[in-house]
Amino acid sequence: MGSGYRVTVLTLFPELVTEYFRTSIVGRLVERGDVVPEVVDIRDFTTDRHRSCDDAPYGGGAGMVLMAQPLAAALESVDARARHVVFPTPAGLPFVQGDAQRLAGLDGMVLICGRYEGIDQRVVDEYVDEEVSLGDYVLSSGELAAMVVMDAVYRLRDGAIRRESVVEDSFQDGLLEYPHYTRPETILGRRVPEVLLSGHHERILAWRRRKQLERTACRRPDLLQRVALSEDERVFTEEILKGEKDNGRNQGS
Ligand code: ADE
Repeated sequence: MGSGYRVTVLTLFPELVTEYFRTSIVGRLVERGDVVPEVVDIRDFTTDRHRSCDDAPYGGGAGMVLMAQPLAAALESVDARARHVVFPTPAGLPFVQGDAQRLAGLDGMVLICGRYEGIDQRVVDEYVDEEVSLGDYVLSSGELAAMVVMDAVYRLRDGAIRRESVVEDSFQDGLLEYPHYTRPETILGRRVPEVLLSGHHERILAWRRRKQLERTACRRPDLLQRVALSEDERVFTEEILKGEKDNGRNQGS
């Protein structure tokens, strides 16, 4: 893979992020040097006796704001002006698989973990290259958001997981994934769909594709607009959308 992916995380809770880098797939990547993590405690860059990092918002209102000074000093300490800086925030652009792919193609990134009501906008204006949102809900821990972004990026790097797993992922082809089964053939009174036991590769592929189309039409019709479908597939998904077919909202088969 060449040299390691350098990821720097600026946080008020370094222990949360440090633990993440020790665990599971990321832990292995770090051990191998494929990922080079750096966790920076924003509080180390405070200048006052109380080591304060937050203050009341100008203009009034609820909550506190992460102050510009310690965050800017922390960013300077990691040469952030010369690097790609990502700030996860519910006010960002939606973070999608294509963004993970783009970030995986860089040599690293700097992530800012927000806390409180937000961070002083002047830091965003000065240092941040992109603001990304995970979805239309608000987390209290920017660390969780940063970990989600990191995780989506790492698993796309060579050697993180089997290449075929990435190719077969949901969203990689723009559709939701088909359902999965493993042994035994019958459990909880439910049997594996017969086609998966048939050994007939083409029929299995066709069944999986149909399941993907069903699920996507049913749960995320917005995704269908961006996917190239054959004429048959287009007709099939339209029937589902019109409610003319059993939509299998929760069902595997
Ligand atoms: N921080 C808090 N909530 C978030 C969200 N939904 N997406 C990204 N960052 C966040």
